Amino acid sequence: MEIVKDIVRLNKIIDEIKQKGKTIGFVPTMGALHQGHLSLLQEAGKQCDVKICSVFVNPTQFNDKKDLDRYPRTPEADFALLEREACDFVFFPDEKEIYPEKEDKRVFRFGRLEELHEGRTRPGHFNGVAQVVSKLFELVKPDKAFFGQKDFQQVMIVKALVKQLNYKVEIVPCAILREADGLAMSSRNVLLSAEERKVAAHIPLWMGKLEEMFRKNTVVETILKAIKEKIALQPLMKLDYLEICDADTLEPIDTANSANRVVALLAVFVGKIRLIDNVLLQ
Ligand code: PAF
Repeated sequence: MEIVKDIVRLNKIIDEIKQKGKTIGFVPTMGALHQGHLSLLQEAGKQCDVKICSVFVNPTQFNDKKDLDRYPRTPEADFALLEREACDFVFFPDEKEIYPEKEDKRVFRFGRLEELHEGRTRPGHFNGVAQVVSKLFELVKPDKAFFGQKDFQQVMIVKALVKQLNYKVEIVPCAILREADGLAMSSRNVLLSAEERKVAAHIPLWMGKLEEMFRKNTVVETILKAIKEKIALQPLMKLDYLEICDADTLEPIDTANSANRVVALLAVFVGKIRLIDNVLLQ
């Protein structure tokens, strides 16, 4: 596995791969890797000839400076994990490599998709994601790029970005990986104290309860009220949003039959750490 820090070297590698007619499977990450990321890499290995992962904590997608500062950075451990997964190349640029000019911050518009849920709480977040993902796609030129479904809205944003810019990359969404107690794997989980981690284990239980109520045709409003009441009883938790939505537009719905595909989206603070989860209901 080669760790690549500069774009000149990356360009050369990509040219050589393309000349050999090999396909590139790409997994963009912000590091602090866990089994969820590795499952994306494994999928990339099944579908493509060459596996490339990027590790870059992208400052432009953090609307909260404190969140950026506390984001875990564990490059050495990340490289060891990637090596074990037989990753071929890790792109590990510094900020100047990705954003050489302070003014070079592309602006994207995703309409309602960037205003809802994550977009409402984290203004500018998706523009930052689009900035870095567009740069990475242009550099790595992947045939397929693999994203975790935990970031449900992000996957939709990336698909919209690919459409807007006519990139040739195929976006492959991959299932959420969960800890033994059901908590969705996330780089942020390591930031939870032992007590917060215990409380966080309620999240998958509530998502399970929500799903059960939905299957029993409970009215959407009643489901949301019941789960929100449970969250409110946890002193260490603060709900950001819980919505049942049309999975194709992410607009909240009132009744199950107002959409073909339905997803429940949750964001909750456990202490200072913000966690998200989702479940596809139909
Ligand atoms: O999902 C993430 O880790 C990031 O948002 C991504 C896609 C790597 C862009 O920085």
